[in-house]
Amino acid sequence: MSERKRVLTGDRPTGKLHLGHYVGSLHNRVQLQDEYECYFLIADLHTLTTRPTHDDIEDMRTNIREMVLDYLAVGIDPQKSTIYLQSAVHAVYEMNLIFEMLVSLPRLTRLPTLKDMARAANIDDESIPFGLIGYPVLQAADILMPRAHLVPVGKDNEAHVEITREIARRFNHLYGEVFPIPEVMLSEVPTLVGTDGQAKMSKSLGNAIFLSDDPKTVEKKVRSMYTDPKRIRADIPGTVEGNPVFIYHDIFNPNREEVDDLKARYRQGRVGDVEVKEKLARALNAFLDPIRERREQFAQERGLVEEIIYTGTLKMRQIADETLEAMKQAMGLRGIWRNIERKARERMKDAPPTP
Ligand code: TRP
Repeated sequence: MSERKRVLTGDRPTGKLHLGHYVGSLHNRVQLQDEYECYFLIADLHTLTTRPTHDDIEDMRTNIREMVLDYLAVGIDPQKSTIYLQSAVHAVYEMNLIFEMLVSLPRLTRLPTLKDMARAANIDDESIPFGLIGYPVLQAADILMPRAHLVPVGKDNEAHVEITREIARRFNHLYGEVFPIPEVMLSEVPTLVGTDGQAKMSKSLGNAIFLSDDPKTVEKKVRSMYTDPKRIRADIPGTVEGNPVFIYHDIFNPNREEVDDLKARYRQGRVGDVEVKEKLARALNAFLDPIRERREQFAQERGLVEEIIYTGTLKMRQIADETLEAMKQAMGLRGIWRNIERKARERMKDAPPTP
């Protein structure tokens, strides 16, 4: 393995990515590519924890393609970074099982994220799948597979990275140093407010602006954005703080003068929502234009997305096999098998060697 430190992160392929993903994680990833060896997984197995039906799996087919197009559009570069399909890396299933021995059930069931995910998927307490409880364990397998040092994620995944750290420490303690203890990296804007003013932008809440939305759609969504509800007329002084329209201006409008001027006039009751929103839509579209353009270019190249996932997955398979081998070696499982194999082959004479 190379000297550069490694980054691993990824997403469940539930659909197109939006501005919340961008500020929460994608922006970080693009920056990290030059300094780190980066691995980005398409977490299709994690999707199965709440959506295991055949239809759900069929949906993932398009979702995977859309998501990887979004990756490429924002500047994730397959020449620098590895993008791979989780379910096609066989070692992850084995690593998951071994890590299941290294964390307690109460530790997992106490995680607030378990309840959150169950609620979001309309699963009641009595029906929580075993695999959903094990969600953070599978995530640990992802992170530890390339022996990652850094995990850039949104705030909602922080507790899972903590579980990964505990599992890595426990493994190293029991069997010897195999894993670095990965650090979480939270973005500057941990969660982006939705267009409706709800705490989090999310596809399922219907309050998202997607990276692939066309300019007209962006304008329409911005026009209906939630602002200061107390401000029923343009001449009433408004509140800028916590106001979604200004939160977006602060993040996406590079014209500081314009933003400061709008804020000042908003506070004094000297600007209408219409103007604030028109300028926001313009800024967002200026931000999204090059992303949309690149997306279109990649989308037109037949088989390119698939080639990128394929090549990345083959690379990850090799890395994963090395890690799994190191784990079994450290645990002594390798030795047990080798001993059985040696004695059997001595007796069987012509038996072929196993991998
Ligand atoms: N849990 C992440 C999500 O919320 C997806 C994920 C799966 C992940 N494995 C990971 C993130 C490993 C970072 C590292 O969608």
